[in-house]
Amino acid sequence: MKERLEAIQKEALEKIQNAKTMETLNEIKVEYLGKKGELTQVLKGMKDVAAEDRPKVGQMVNETRTAIEESLEREMNLLAKAKQEEKLAKEVIDVTLPGTKINTGHKHPNQIALEDLERVFIGMGYEIVEGPEVEYDKYNFELLNIPANHPAKDEQDTFYINKEILLRTQTSPVQARVMETGKMPIRMLAPGRVFRSDEVDATHSPSFHQVEGLVVDKNITFSDLKGTLAQFATEFFGPETKVKFRPHHFPFTEPSAEMDITCFKCGGKGCRMCKGSGWIEILGCGMVHPKVLKACGIDPEEYSGFAFGIGLERVTLLKYEIDDMRLLYENDTRFLKQF
Ligand code: DAH
Repeated sequence: MKERLEAIQKEALEKIQNAKTMETLNEIKVEYLGKKGELTQVLKGMKDVAAEDRPKVGQMVNETRTAIEESLEREMNLLAKAKQEEKLAKEVIDVTLPGTKINTGHKHPNQIALEDLERVFIGMGYEIVEGPEVEYDKYNFELLNIPANHPAKDEQDTFYINKEILLRTQTSPVQARVMETGKMPIRMLAPGRVFRSDEVDATHSPSFHQVEGLVVDKNITFSDLKGTLAQFATEFFGPETKVKFRPHHFPFTEPSAEMDITCFKCGGKGCRMCKGSGWIEILGCGMVHPKVLKACGIDPEEYSGFAFGIGLERVTLLKYEIDDMRLLYENDTRFLKQF
């Protein structure tokens, strides 16, 4: 019996050693360990073995079985590993190849300028607010001291939804909306899109953006206006920037002014950028008209304020020295990605 088992083991292990495929190994497994396999046959012959020898023979059979099983497993693992390695070698990934390029978008120059501008005013304690683009005539004109038939309405002709509702021509109506809430003091910045019936050219568009500012509190004077806007100019355009106020007229402010800054290109000497004058007009501003305060429910005896309106595109064009506003709207990425 012992010899038989040894012969079986030797033969099996040899076959296993020589096997080249998984299939062969599986066949060997069936051949020796299967139901009709050699070892099973031996076990069936146990009944002929003397009772006292059975445990010993049983142990020998088990040892043979274990030896064959272990050898099979080792060989199967080796084969599987080889197969995997072959597969990996075939499917090499060259990690040095350039990846698929994903075109990420980026901020529009208008948006970059707006965020810079907002940062300056947020630093001074301003809150950013928004108002509707489709606005009531009441907020866009009436409450801002521009009554029906006022010539300013002509200048700011726009798209009317009906007699009372229009596309706002300025961000100033947001002033009225915030004042109306009655929460004092006010320190707000309202950026947004505005509309006018304008022909498109290098400096005009029927739709553009403004940034409105408003401060209302006790004892606000023109000095506050000047100090605030001068601070804005130096922070936004550079520390050398000087400002100049020219008298102007806006229905909703009194007195009103336009603010110029020294040309940041030539420093005030005069160049192409400032058309030789050394100054660049940057915004409209003024002390909030008492009539406007009153119309919005604020007592002009107790409170005063200043306001300003900045043309966002104008500031963007200046900041990036772009000479045609249309470039900002054409969405040509070759142009836009420069900023
Ligand atoms: N709303 C004015 C415009 O569109 C700009 C402006 C001027 C706004 C003076 C103001 C201001 O708040 O005080 O032309």
